[in-house]
Amino acid sequence: ISQRIYKDFSKADRVMSFNSPLMMVCVYVSMILVAWMGAKQIVASGNNAALGLTTGDLTALVTYAMQILMAMMMLSMIFVMCIISQASAERICQVLNEESTVTNPADPVKEVADGSIEFSDVNFRYSDNSEKPVLDNINLKIGSGMTVGIVGGTGSAKSSLVQLVPRLYDVTSGSLKVGGVDVRDYDMEVLRDQVAMVLQKNVLFSGTIADNLRWGNPNATDEEIRHACQLAQADGFIQEFPDKYDTYIEQGGTNVSGGQRQRLCIARALLKKPKILILDDSTSAVDTKTDQLIRAAFHNEIPDTTKIIIAQRIASVQESDMILVMEEGRITASGTHEELLKTCDEYRSIYESQTKNQAQPEELQ
Ligand SMILES: Nc1ncnc2c1ncn2[C@@H]1O[C@H](COP(=O)(O)OP(=O)(O)OP(=O)(O)O)[C@@H](O)[C@H]1O
Ligand SMILES: [Mg+2]
Repeated sequence: ISQRIYKDFSKADRVMSFNSPLMMVCVYVSMILVAWMGAKQIVASGNNAALGLTTGDLTALVTYAMQILMAMMMLSMIFVMCIISQASAERICQVLNEESTVTNPADPVKEVADGSIEFSDVNFRYSDNSEKPVLDNINLKIGSGMTVGIVGGTGSAKSSLVQLVPRLYDVTSGSLKVGGVDVRDYDMEVLRDQVAMVLQKNVLFSGTIADNLRWGNPNATDEEIRHACQLAQADGFIQEFPDKYDTYIEQGGTNVSGGQRQRLCIARALLKKPKILILDDSTSAVDTKTDQLIRAAFHNEIPDTTKIIIAQRIASVQESDMILVMEEGRITASGTHEELLKTCDEYRSIYESQTKNQAQPEELQ
């Protein structure tokens, strides 16, 4: 596609680069003609106004002709611009009219019974043409209210796995059930209201903190907002702002720190009161102590919500009921922290690399 754009643009530019000299030639040829004919008339009339053209008339004529020609050149430029914008408009419409492949079923289920999740033989690829599946034969059962940790290297398809739960993508084969019902049978809005996800790359919008949090639930009361923020350990720093919950957040949340932004996004997700809460590396910029407090708050305050926590730090998932180790789109091991320490070498080596005191310089040499 890049190659084609490159060719089209080169062709267009070549045509355009001829355009300008050609027009200039036309303009100056016309001027020469006007001057030549005018001069002939002046000579013929002996510069006598009564008989024909005078030098003054000719100067005026040349100036007018020049102005008209320039205006016509502008017109042709506008014409070119119109054609370019038409192509752009077509492209914009194409994007706006694109139909999502994920659509509501004919007779959708309107209620999510509980927060249980079941993957059976799930395969998934982003594009039909890709040869290797991103998720390869995933079988997994998560009970309602469980806390599940997921660890694994970058690109091991952790995010891809959890994106299937709110049906951001459809499985390629196999089935994924939430609350005992296939996700494809739910009304999408109902499903996504019950599955809150804090993305790896999260966004805040320009507006006050309270406005931003109400994206999670437009009808939330001030108390509910405050409670969600206390759970996400965000209330503390919000109270320190002079305007508290009315503090203005700049576009993209640039005037709060990375860790503060992550906590606000967690609070926003909690406001939905979801049955399933997914945190995709959402406490990576939060210090370990606060991370611990957030997890403790989840444990005590929302015990019935299924929590899926993707993390790079083992400490963030250590107390989970089940930890999954992912590698290249497959779940290579699962179990509690203690079990995995005994059975999974990969997990143990990650754990040791994170908990051992900094390696001594001599050891590194
Ligand atoms: N939108 C997409 N379209 C096509 N391929 C994608 C897309 N998103 C991810 N992939 C591919 O899927 C694979 C898994 O990516 P994924 O984002 O799930 O990894 P991850 O485990 O979440 O990594 P990280 O720890 O860096 O967040 C990668 O090989 C990636 O190139
Ligand atoms: Mg990811």
